[in-house]
Amino acid sequence: MKKTADANRVYIFDTTMRDGEQSPGASMNLDEKLRIAAVLEEMGVDIIEAGFPIASQGDFDAVKAIAGKVKNSTVAGLARAGRKDIDRAWEALKGARRSRIHTFLSTSPLHMKYKLQMEPEAVHQAVIDSVGYARNLCDDVEWSPEDGSRTEHDFLCRCVESAIKAGARTINIPDTVGYAVPEEFAALIRMLFDRVPNIDKAIISVHCHNDLGLAVANSLAAIGAGARQVECTINGLGERAGNAALEEIVMALKTRHDRMPYSTGIKTEHIVKASHLVSTITGFPVQPNKAIVGANAFAHESGIHQDGMLKHAGTYEIMTPESVGLNRSTLVMGKHSGRHAFKAKLKELGFTLGDNALEDAFKRFKDLADKKKNVYDDDIMALVEDEVVRSHERIKFVALQVVCGSRGPQMADLELEIDGKLHNVQARGSGPVDATFNAIKKLVPHEGAVLQLYQVHAVTEGTDAQAMVTVRLAEEGKSVNGQGADADTLVASARAYIHALNKLLTKRAKTAPAALSA
Ligand code: KIV
Ligand code: ZN
Repeated sequence: MKKTADANRVYIFDTTMRDGEQSPGASMNLDEKLRIAAVLEEMGVDIIEAGFPIASQGDFDAVKAIAGKVKNSTVAGLARAGRKDIDRAWEALKGARRSRIHTFLSTSPLHMKYKLQMEPEAVHQAVIDSVGYARNLCDDVEWSPEDGSRTEHDFLCRCVESAIKAGARTINIPDTVGYAVPEEFAALIRMLFDRVPNIDKAIISVHCHNDLGLAVANSLAAIGAGARQVECTINGLGERAGNAALEEIVMALKTRHDRMPYSTGIKTEHIVKASHLVSTITGFPVQPNKAIVGANAFAHESGIHQDGMLKHAGTYEIMTPESVGLNRSTLVMGKHSGRHAFKAKLKELGFTLGDNALEDAFKRFKDLADKKKNVYDDDIMALVEDEVVRSHERIKFVALQVVCGSRGPQMADLELEIDGKLHNVQARGSGPVDATFNAIKKLVPHEGAVLQLYQVHAVTEGTDAQAMVTVRLAEEGKSVNGQGADADTLVASARAYIHALNKLLTKRAKTAPAALSA
């Protein structure tokens, strides 16, 4: 991370791939994490917390891969206070151009007594030991007192002072359970500035959870009190009710610069793309009325509002859609659009595809344009994401014919390519989706897996809209998300299921590769 002399610069620390991934069902694989990291880096995120390397081999591999790829952002990895954790984090991070070990230990009476079962003196010593140990490996060390907002002030000050003395350059105060309210949280930060003698040697950071819906308000209040790093996630993803939403903090600082004269390095035009990507990968939809990135955030339905907007956009818009990356596009796509226009559109939307993927995406765009009069940006984004996702899969969708309706029986006739060979099967089910999934199960048996989520969203408006389907499969306590987009909901469903299944098989193959088809 480049140091800046600007005292009002707020560093953005994104933890979508660490705290965000800790939300049940929000698992991401290595390839998906690399895609998210690339978007975060492009957006100007200062620090990307890529994972918790000791948590699993998958987390370790992802942190290592991101550390090897990202050039402009600092890459952070989380570690508990023990040497094994810290060594593992360093092992994953050491290849990064800029790396940070983020180590933490609970300091609240409740956590020390029940969770750690440690006396405060032992906790204090562990802070000194762990930060010192991490600092011998890595120049950039962040320390967090977990449950900081419910920690006794004297003890918090003592631990913070010792952590800085032991070498921590960033002190992050978490509101782990989302209990704080803004005035109180700002006062806590001010208290640290007043009472910790060496506080000027570290950057003060905050990490707020959203259990009371106050994560963003608490983060902004803390900035006002002197914090210069905020930890946040795209779409507010995170444990329980989530973390403070990156897009809300950044846009609040930008839009209300008159009241909060702080700046970030975020290129806000990348916000919508990042939101869309995280939502697609995790299968966590963005609520329509979500601030900044919800589908209705810039929609004006009522006559009075529309009239005002036509006269002056400022009547009902406090920021422009373009400022967050919502294009009022000039390039409208349809069935007469050629390869050149398609390529230009992809560029406008921020995608760069290799030649083969581009050709496949163009073919699917043409198929879609034959079915749909107007192909919107969201359609193209869904289609391209689908294409990127599909490129290395062992099981590929080829064709689907379905019999459905009230007379039954509902039947699916499915063709898949498995490891380069074509396979065909018919199956029945209670409904066309069930029949389609049964057909997949017949061709690729996977009894141990449970369907946890089947979700359908229309990508745009109208009955000819593409469907974006998410399927979550779980096996042995681990879940994977698959996505599929198509103008035909059943084809999108089959694609989503196959995507999830491919991921499940990749997970399994890491232990024992096996033949796939029955
Ligand atoms: O919420 C929390 O306390 C955390 C810490 C690990 C920073 O996520
Ligand atoms: Zn957290």
